[in-house]
Amino acid sequence: MVGCVISDAAGTILAAAHHERFGEPHAEVLAIAKAGASARDAIVHVTLEPCNHHGKTPPCVDALVDAGVREVVIGARDPNPQASGGMERLREAGIAARCVDHPGSMSLLRPFQTRLERTRPWITLKWAQTLDGNIATRTGESKWISSPRSRRMVHRERGRVDAIMTGIGTVLMDNPRLTARDVRIRRIAKRIVIDRSLKTPLDGELVRTIGKAPLLIVTERTELETEKASMLKSHGVHLMGRDSIEGRFDLPSLFNDLHLEHDISTVLVEAGTGLMSSLLRSNCVDELAIFTAPRTMEDPEGYPPLDPDLMEKMASTLDSCGRSYRREQDQLVLCEVGV
Ligand SMILES: NC(=O)c1ccc[n+]([C@@H]2O[C@H](COP(=O)([O-])OP(=O)(O)OC[C@H]3O[C@@H](n4cnc5c(N)ncnc54)[C@H](OP(=O)(O)O)[C@@H]3O)[C@@H](O)[C@H]2O)c1
Repeated sequence: MVGCVISDAAGTILAAAHHERFGEPHAEVLAIAKAGASARDAIVHVTLEPCNHHGKTPPCVDALVDAGVREVVIGARDPNPQASGGMERLREAGIAARCVDHPGSMSLLRPFQTRLERTRPWITLKWAQTLDGNIATRTGESKWISSPRSRRMVHRERGRVDAIMTGIGTVLMDNPRLTARDVRIRRIAKRIVIDRSLKTPLDGELVRTIGKAPLLIVTERTELETEKASMLKSHGVHLMGRDSIEGRFDLPSLFNDLHLEHDISTVLVEAGTGLMSSLLRSNCVDELAIFTAPRTMEDPEGYPPLDPDLMEKMASTLDSCGRSYRREQDQLVLCEVGV
């Protein structure tokens, strides 16, 4: 999520790099290595304030000072108090450093900021709908609303996130696998099912594909001692027991635990009306990925994406910040949510 470009005073690019993997060298260090001696007196543009602390790697400010760069233009200040202060350190070393609060750099930081400020993962809700806003027929059928190309985009996303979450309604109706297929897999996402009464079928696709990706079922604490729980565990399924209030888990605290105890930083939710509405009500949604297909159901009893009462007031309608991409027959709208 961090990029760095080194140029000379005339703007000719000498080197560019990005932070490729957690724990590995930061963008600035990689770019300086590429630029070599030409980094001396150069101008550095970096999306995030260079770090000023010994984390998994040494401070980037030291690398910039040692390389003898002249100026550092910073896209966004580091919201992590442990790593911030890089701009001041650069200035103390005589390097002209300034932050330009670049909107693109700041939006790259939002997932990181969410994790830091709310101690929970970045949560994306994805659904495919018809033009008249249905995600399934009245009988619950939803395969396939979107096009193969859109589905491929979803698989690519599945291959990037830490977890894919769904509700028991979708498991029982669609029997999904929720694995990333025929795409480059950067990480194997944990599949998480919200299933209070342990209805997840032992012979369903989620359990059958346990060797491909871990499966975690979040269930009532009282279910942990049942025979079904033992059978699921013997198939390699992980169970997490929670207490519900009026049949509902406290979702913010669940996400806190998933983040802190299971190291989950990004979640893609592929669920039906019930869980998606619950998540929005609990203010646990950061981003929507809505695929709108050019077809209609013309059925008032089809499944809407969200409970109708969620949108009773204009103030509660979902805001789109206007990032939208058109893909073949389907339209993907990505918007940030303020509910
Ligand atoms: N077009 C699409 O993109 C898409 C994607 C996925 C699914 N679908 C369709 O959606 C339909 C299923 O909708 P659905 O609403 O039944 O499925 P769902 O959202 O997957 O699951 C709903 C269930 O989740 C549980 N739940 C929700 N919030 C909870 C909370 N806070 N705490 C505990 N449990 C919670 C409830 O289970 P309990 O009953 O145990 O309380 C609820 O009945 C299917 O027809 C499927 O094909 C469409």
